[in-house]
Amino acid sequence: MTPTPTNIVLLGAGAREHALAWKLTRDGATVHVLPGNAGIPGSHPAISATDFPAIQQFCQEKDVQLIVVGPEAPLAAGVADYFQDSDIRVFGPSRAGATLESSKVWSKDFMRRHGVATAKSWKFRSDQLNEARAKAAELDGQVVVKYDGLAAGKGVYVCSSTEEAEEALRSLQAEHTGWFSFLLEEKLTGPEISIIGITDGNRIRLLSPSQDHKQLLAHDQGPNTGGMGAYCPVPFCDDNVLAAIRQDIVDPTLRGLQTEPFSFRGFIYFGIMLTPQGPKLLEYNVRLGDPEAEVLLPALDTSLLDLITATLDGRLAETVVRQRPGAYVGVVLASGGYPASGFPVGFPITGLDQLHPGTLVFHGATKRTAEGQLVTNGGRVLVLVAHGHDLEEAVARVYREAEKVQFEGMYIRPDIGQRPEPTEIFSAVR
Ligand code: AMP
Ligand code: GLY
Repeated sequence: MTPTPTNIVLLGAGAREHALAWKLTRDGATVHVLPGNAGIPGSHPAISATDFPAIQQFCQEKDVQLIVVGPEAPLAAGVADYFQDSDIRVFGPSRAGATLESSKVWSKDFMRRHGVATAKSWKFRSDQLNEARAKAAELDGQVVVKYDGLAAGKGVYVCSSTEEAEEALRSLQAEHTGWFSFLLEEKLTGPEISIIGITDGNRIRLLSPSQDHKQLLAHDQGPNTGGMGAYCPVPFCDDNVLAAIRQDIVDPTLRGLQTEPFSFRGFIYFGIMLTPQGPKLLEYNVRLGDPEAEVLLPALDTSLLDLITATLDGRLAETVVRQRPGAYVGVVLASGGYPASGFPVGFPITGLDQLHPGTLVFHGATKRTAEGQLVTNGGRVLVLVAHGHDLEEAVARVYREAEKVQFEGMYIRPDIGQRPEPTEIFSAVR
């Protein structure tokens, strides 16, 4: 058994990484964030999360023996493989394991091989657009078109008519040059939830169920964003729903990870839709969700550092995951104009010193001017997180706190944590 390392490198730069750094620091670690951002203590802006030689040199200089990875890009670029033969351990899957997220086609084949409940789908190459069109017409345009690669959330087109499916196929062709693959999936309906676990490829420990709010505007309207807010736990995701998710999705995935020829030690994220036919897996991610992490990590009572070390040591079976009681809600304070490109940044942020000491502030995209003024530096600027005895109280608190913060053009989605309960789907899953 390796002694618990106290000196850690954390890769990434957003509010998810701020939450990870905050939690690991509470667990007793000294956390160096590469590159981090102006609001995350211990950030080193000169070192990119995918510059592996520079990361290695940093680890040697600071005597770091553990790297925790926030976003998918360093994993898909092979950070775990790069350090495989060194004495630096990486919490996150190998490049082959990361294919579960980086290739929609590969991950769908994995789901099929291992009997994971998911939407029916058909695979096409870029020279088979006519065949895809015919299939979409056969399904009355009730399809989802998915580009087979990392597309920063922009490779998925949810369609409701043959015209929309046509348009999606046209956009796919316009946006990607050269040879590519894509999936056509049957369109499912139902509430979505995020189930995130820590796995060593044999066992899994699940964190609390959470829900993201991906669209910009209230009532799930407007363009998709990186996520405008999240909460946990999810009241309608009770033991019966969780049992169905375990049986139809989590357990078959684990059996798959046990038999596939790659190792997987890290976070695994199941994006799930609760359909009238039961839970179906929409996607895997090989990392914590953002903004889900910002509520899940404060809710986690167990030491994350211990869970990570146990995972790397193959001792996950000995661990217990405890959640704090009550609810956590996180709202994103976004720049006006986000998620379109070209919105202005650099606006001074005020009011953070007025917040209640129980409110957590995670920085997504801030920077300091030469004079030391904190200013906006991207789309999802800050995430505020509040706790309550129940969801209602946490929601009321977080919005009260958010009113104290100001920057020019600030936008906050007004209905985080306030979706109506989906009673009919809930009963059908049972
Ligand atoms: P993905 O990246 O595969 O999770 O897709 C992004 C979003 O598209 C999901 O969060 C869903 O809202 C939606 N989506 C994906 N697949 C489907 C599907 N088969 N049916 C309905 N909506 C879907
Ligand atoms: N919140 C969705 C994601 O991180 O992919």
